[in-house]
Amino acid sequence: MNIAILGYGVVGSGVAQLLTENGASYAQRSTQPAMQLKHILDKRSFPGDEHETIITSEFGVILNDPSVGIVAECMGGATFAYDCVLACLQAGKSVVTSNKELVAAKGYELMQAAKANNANFLFEASVAGGIPVIRPLSQCLAANHICEVAGILNGTTNFILTRMIEDGTAFADALAQAQELGYAEADPTADVEGHDACRKLCILATLAYGKHVYPEQVHTEGITKITAEDVEYAAAFKHNIKLLGRAQQLDDGRISLVVAPMLVPRSHMIAHVKDVYNAVLIRGDAVGDVMFHGRGAGSMPTASAVVADIIDCAKHCERRRVFDWLPNDPAFVAPANEECVRLYVRASGDAALPSAETIAQSNGEVVFITSRGKYGETIAKLAAFDVKTVLRVAEFEAC
Ligand code: HSE
Repeated sequence: MNIAILGYGVVGSGVAQLLTENGASYAQRSTQPAMQLKHILDKRSFPGDEHETIITSEFGVILNDPSVGIVAECMGGATFAYDCVLACLQAGKSVVTSNKELVAAKGYELMQAAKANNANFLFEASVAGGIPVIRPLSQCLAANHICEVAGILNGTTNFILTRMIEDGTAFADALAQAQELGYAEADPTADVEGHDACRKLCILATLAYGKHVYPEQVHTEGITKITAEDVEYAAAFKHNIKLLGRAQQLDDGRISLVVAPMLVPRSHMIAHVKDVYNAVLIRGDAVGDVMFHGRGAGSMPTASAVVADIIDCAKHCERRRVFDWLPNDPAFVAPANEECVRLYVRASGDAALPSAETIAQSNGEVVFITSRGKYGETIAKLAAFDVKTVLRVAEFEAC
């Protein structure tokens, strides 16, 4: 079985390395056909690289090679990558991808194309890097009603927040370190503004609730406005600030979707997930809480998930691995201002909401956590304050 990789960047190079180093042993462990890396697509040249001779800048070389049965898309983006993936599926080649932007924006269409052409379209690496969560959510936990999926879904921002909390590192310095380590997106705005976590939440919510969810439907905030003062006040309230993605099913059946920095109580495991690690909490009515933890970004952890999908395709070249869901339903997603939540508020002055449960004051600032209420209604009550920061407080009630 011949393999091609699209993109020889952080993830693609890790996939090539893993296939080269461990490829022979995969075939020894099962009856699957032996796998051979035959082409790598990249517009750049890599003189002296061990894979130099198989790098091509022509996608047609891969598309028109009938010996290539599995293509690993590791380029990112949802335009050229979409055209390539669609063309491969229409040619009957199976595709695996680490590209969350592509799956969140075009996953429904691409899954339909895979079905129509009896090919596989797998995307374990698109959420939480090396953590296995796509199959556990859609297969192992399929018997449950999923009341919530919540998690730290972006390694770069978790790395930045950890460095800010533990060492007092400045935001820009922590981001530069994350870029050097290969965690950040090509444009790190996608990380720090929450777009990357949003795309991953869309994929998880789609699988948990069975209808495609698009990034435009998710209320998304990043971490760029978090200050050292907020980190310290959160600590005084025994919370850590984490960028969380949350999908919750409401009593009326709709789902609530939010990506935002939140205060997470230190009594919960998620508050202690550090550095590039991600965590995904899945709450099912039968199983209870299940939490997955591991490296959420980086070359080899992500390659681990991509190559696992390649192996799955190789083992199932005669039949489909079925991931399936319904198209988008706009009415299925509740407006963000209906979310029922407590809010952390930092404001100038010495007043506080009458309903506030906890109050701290210093340096001419008032800091408090509101009672639980609809997000939009509580925000309206804050109109009289000179508010500097508002953050949600994450609570994890039993399903
Ligand atoms: N930029 C992403 C992150 C890479 O930091 O989590 C993995 O999807």
